[in-house]
Amino acid sequence: MKRTLGVCYYPEHWPEDIWALDAKRMVAAGLTWVRIGEFAWSRLEPSPGDLQFDWLDRAIDVLGRAGLKVILGTPTATPPLWMLEKHPDMIPLDEQGRPRKFGSRRHYCFSHLGYREESRRITRLFAQRYGSNPHVVAWQTDNEYACHDTTRSYSDAARLGFQNWLAQKYQSTDALNRAWGNIFWSMEYDAFEKVDLPNLTVTEPNPSHVLDFYRYSSDMVVEFNRIQADEIRAHSSAPLIHNYMGREVSFDHYKVGADLDIASWDSYPIGFLSDRLEGTEEHKLRYLRQGDPDNQAFHHDIYRAVGRGRMWVMEQQPGPVNWAPYNAAPLPGMARLWAWEAFAHGAETVCYFRWRQAPFAQEQNHAGLLRPDSADAPALAEARQVADEFAALPDVGTARADVALVFDYESAWAWQAQPQGADFDMFRLGFAFYRALRRLGLNVDILPPDAADLSAYKLVLAPGVMSLSDGLRHAFETFDGLALLGPRTDTKSADMAIPTPMGPNLSGLDVTVTLTESLPPNASIPLTGGGAVLHWCEQLEGDAQVLETTQSGQAVIQGTQKLRYLAGWLSDDTLDRIFAELCAEIGVQTHDLPRDLRLRDTDTHRFLFNYGPEPVTWNGVTIPAAGVHWQPL
Ligand code: GAL
Repeated sequence: MKRTLGVCYYPEHWPEDIWALDAKRMVAAGLTWVRIGEFAWSRLEPSPGDLQFDWLDRAIDVLGRAGLKVILGTPTATPPLWMLEKHPDMIPLDEQGRPRKFGSRRHYCFSHLGYREESRRITRLFAQRYGSNPHVVAWQTDNEYACHDTTRSYSDAARLGFQNWLAQKYQSTDALNRAWGNIFWSMEYDAFEKVDLPNLTVTEPNPSHVLDFYRYSSDMVVEFNRIQADEIRAHSSAPLIHNYMGREVSFDHYKVGADLDIASWDSYPIGFLSDRLEGTEEHKLRYLRQGDPDNQAFHHDIYRAVGRGRMWVMEQQPGPVNWAPYNAAPLPGMARLWAWEAFAHGAETVCYFRWRQAPFAQEQNHAGLLRPDSADAPALAEARQVADEFAALPDVGTARADVALVFDYESAWAWQAQPQGADFDMFRLGFAFYRALRRLGLNVDILPPDAADLSAYKLVLAPGVMSLSDGLRHAFETFDGLALLGPRTDTKSADMAIPTPMGPNLSGLDVTVTLTESLPPNASIPLTGGGAVLHWCEQLEGDAQVLETTQSGQAVIQGTQKLRYLAGWLSDDTLDRIFAELCAEIGVQTHDLPRDLRLRDTDTHRFLFNYGPEPVTWNGVTIPAAGVHWQPL
């Protein structure tokens, strides 16, 4: 695998006579790829059927002849105004039933069949015109599905689509009523056409109703994407990519990924720390200019799973962004560190967003590799440095990990539908486990919930997976390594009811969750071995050996040599202790890393990343602030 760099570019934003110079400077900066096209619809088709692709032909030609490889994005995230005049009901409605207006982007409802056809049409035109263009070497479908909270729409189109989806799934309203338990509060239906969307109810809607609507909404993203994938594949053999987001769980990324060749994601470490990650004030201040030290790695590892081994960063933050509550500038070195960390986790390509900072419109305060006046911005030299460093390292992939973590999107929706504790959040739970593993210096693979072969791993963790698939259940029952399931794992049926017998239901694990309680953020339950349970605590019954207890004697971990259940959300320091103990038990080496240091192995090298604002010394090596170090394994 050859590592490469790229950049996102908007030829339609700039006079045509500077494209060639831009392309030359991109090549001089060591960039290989340029992504274009994804928001350009109003210039490609200014009015219905008036196709004006000549400028895009010329842009691709100029970039390609300069030696760049083009990633062509379909423009469906930004339908032009005439599209809404043609299909007024394609506008998504928010949960309050309010239309989301024209004037930004992603103003479409995934369920709207008319817009789907428009999206198919423009994608087909792109594919026919550029499918055999030698400069178009990869494709991006749409842009950031789900961005700005757009997976779920409460429109008429969504209601009709949902009713059909339910009819196909359940075949009879009796079956639906049984599956959802609609006798509770007399919520029974006698026709699928009478089932409404689960918003604006007097009090909470039925969680099974909500979960099915979330499943339906996710399926609509999958279908929307599949149409584009099919159209492009009919004319091109270049790889298909989508650019996913950070901390976005509203659709099943594994299912979208199954129709594509590479999973890419958009990495804005400083924006994410400010705008979507939990953390103490002290943590957020320490990493203000670097981003959370584990967030990027977690997403690299998730998206490596979504891409079945193939992962890119399609948009890499180069300087301050515009969209977080506060937008600090990166420490010098971070634009290099983030790229190397992505490569160490298996990225093939890292593209910076964007080439030149736009002096107009919404993102005018968002940095690029160039300033608005075309002078070099600080990240340009860092990109050049990364490109120069490629020669120093073999082109190998990331190492296979000993430890795996199951991450399930459907469970994220289940716990949104019925959190039971206000801060029970699937991403947060999975991320808490992941960061503890990373603090121990472990390489981690993420697994989808239908993984059926765990044989490559020594330790597998499965927090919060509501209902185990048959394949994964069997894999755990026959696993040769050590598995730790829970909290909340296998405690619901696929319909989101409490099963009988109550879970978890794995042969060989004599443990049952009999009662659950959730706790406010300032409450904790101390453990005998040190540390505490926070947020969530389950009571267990069963004959399996008790391996960890609360100070009042309640079992927290129970199980066998190989298969154990964890009955609570452990505090971070407790996760560190428990995971270190598990690793010691099975002979997986852990490391005592300084706070700011993170580690990832490739097949041949160990990479160290200093996320701290000061130099750090470990095992005789001193790494400067925002520095990267690699050494042969
Ligand atoms: C991403 C998006 C880009 C741009 C960028 C700004 O979410 O895909 O188009 O808006 O954020 O940081």
